[in-house]
Amino acid sequence: MKEITHKDYLEFIKEKTAVIIEDVEIKLQKNWNIKSYGPPRDYTPERTTVWSFPDRGDWATHKGNYRGNWSPYIPRNLILKYTQKGDWVLDQMMGSGTTLVEAKLLERNAIGVDINLDAVMVARDRLNFSYNPLFSEYKEPIVKTYWGDARNLDKIENESIDLIATHPPYANIISYTKSKKLSDDLSQLPFEEYLKEMRKVAEEAFRVLKPGKICAILIGDTRKHKHYVPIALRVMRWCA
Ligand SMILES: C[S@@+](CC[C@H](N)C(=O)[O-])C[C@H]1O[C@@H](n2cnc3c(N)ncnc32)[C@H](O)[C@@H]1O
Repeated sequence: MKEITHKDYLEFIKEKTAVIIEDVEIKLQKNWNIKSYGPPRDYTPERTTVWSFPDRGDWATHKGNYRGNWSPYIPRNLILKYTQKGDWVLDQMMGSGTTLVEAKLLERNAIGVDINLDAVMVARDRLNFSYNPLFSEYKEPIVKTYWGDARNLDKIENESIDLIATHPPYANIISYTKSKKLSDDLSQLPFEEYLKEMRKVAEEAFRVLKPGKICAILIGDTRKHKHYVPIALRVMRWCA
């Protein structure tokens, strides 16, 4: 793992105004025109096992243009349900940093990791805003980002994390780095190999999570040759 700081990001954007994640160009904004810092006022957190959101969620710096990113409502619900202010949240496959932006808004410390340096820069770009709510004593949390592999979180201590909220590739359904040929990117692996590697992700997650705390993982299923492929169930079986 290599830490990528705000200073590294500032150096990066001196040379580059955008990155390409697979075939999608993502502009690095530098300055954000933020209209709101949270979901609509009448939104209430989810209370049942079926979560349904009024829209995708585009508050703060959230944008839907990172391939397969998750709606900010998902990490928001997880963070509110399972952590307190000042706790540590980890997303070891953070992509564009949706989880980290929510952690920052909700005053939780956070660590994000991604195998693709360009993704880490997108996440830093999305974290590049200041938040000063008028009527609350907001204390800016610590948010760290790393370029690294979810199977080897060597900079994170044993039993130090209060919540893992992460969203891995759904096997090789969406490729994240095919054109860059990053062999450590789990979206490049055939299904059976992907399952084996996800077990390593799970072992590392177990090591860093405090005992009794929650690890929440979003994985979608797919269809192949007219057959349903339950990716999430297969991952759970391998990791159990
Ligand atoms: C589904 S995306 C995450 C999207 C994220 N939730 C968001 O909202 O932007 C999966 C991410 O896993 C990353 N990834 C793939 N293999 C990885 C590995 N071995 N270690 C860390 N990240 C990895 C990919 O680069 C990609 O950004």
